[in-house]
Amino acid sequence: MPTPLHRVATIGAAVLIGAGGLAACGANDTGSGSDAGSGDGSGGGATIALLLPESATTRYEAFDKPLFEAKVAELCSDCEVAYFNADQDEAKQQEQVASALTQGADVLVLDPVNGAGAGGMLADAQAEDVPVIAYDRFIEGADYYMSFDNNTVGQMQGEALVEAMGDSGGILMLNGAPSDPNAAQFKAGAHSVIDESGLELLSAEYDNPDWSPENAQSYVTDQVNKLGADKIDGVYAANDGQAGGVVAALLGAGVKAADLPPITGQDAELAAVQRIVAGEQTVTIYKPIPIEAETAAEVAVDLALGNEVPTTSVTGVDQSDFEGVTSYIFTPTAVTQDNVADTVIADGFYTADDICTSAYAEACKAAGLQ
Ligand code: GAL
Repeated sequence: MPTPLHRVATIGAAVLIGAGGLAACGANDTGSGSDAGSGDGSGGGATIALLLPESATTRYEAFDKPLFEAKVAELCSDCEVAYFNADQDEAKQQEQVASALTQGADVLVLDPVNGAGAGGMLADAQAEDVPVIAYDRFIEGADYYMSFDNNTVGQMQGEALVEAMGDSGGILMLNGAPSDPNAAQFKAGAHSVIDESGLELLSAEYDNPDWSPENAQSYVTDQVNKLGADKIDGVYAANDGQAGGVVAALLGAGVKAADLPPITGQDAELAAVQRIVAGEQTVTIYKPIPIEAETAAEVAVDLALGNEVPTTSVTGVDQSDFEGVTSYIFTPTAVTQDNVADTVIADGFYTADDICTSAYAEACKAAGLQ
């Protein structure tokens, strides 16, 4: 039976093929800032710019982008989505915003590389009466904001680590990029649990400047060289991309897969869910991206068409207030080996077949997934 997400993804694919003439979409996928030969939302429909921060984290291009595009297409057949990815480069994102405005974007859905540094982009858009939705990462003064409860994400990570480690032992801590306002919230949430536990930091914690798995891998490799792998009893990694780097570093240092210490993550990336099934990662935090991407699409279409934005979105989430900005805040879920079936699979985020590729067939059988 096709799962909801797979149905959405299929619709998205069909829309993309059918919309091959939408020059603004495809030509900007590289984020090159080229003018793409598009005019002001040709065809009379509105143009909505979707600006995402990076692509090393798989969620953006595998989920956020196609789900957002599919929902816009469903709600407004005449609307175009102009898509940009900044590849973690702040200056590039500024150019992309300028390019979106030049192309006549009616709304910006902006996930900023640097939340605190996004004021200029916001001012440029608002000066042209183009509303800005702060997508996933907060921007002060934005028209709308939507995200998950990021402090709770950090708390859930901390709780899973403490539970897996039995409340004692030495840990490494790898946080997100300091330019990302969410990173501070994940970190604060995790500290609120870890600092009250018996766990101890082995070294100064690492604020990974660009969230990259490569930086995470080098940091842990350095720590292994300094401390010895056997001293590392657990690792707090703020997201799954970094958890992948941590695992690579430890395996590279000769730690056997079966002997990996408890490791946290976030985003329910497919590779992380597979590691969880195989016992190589303890937890990931599942943030159901459909609700976030679809709510963003609903609000963006209403703004683009000049409709009133309902206080309850079509996806049924109530508005609230976050630092003075009208917001939609969604609830995350912790995923461990015990509840993979009841969370990411039950929700249609992945099928058991997606997870249980040949390398994970045995682990899947043992976990009762196949
Ligand atoms: C955060 C986002 C996470 C993760 C991270 C790295 O802002 O909430 O889901 O993707 O960025 O890009």
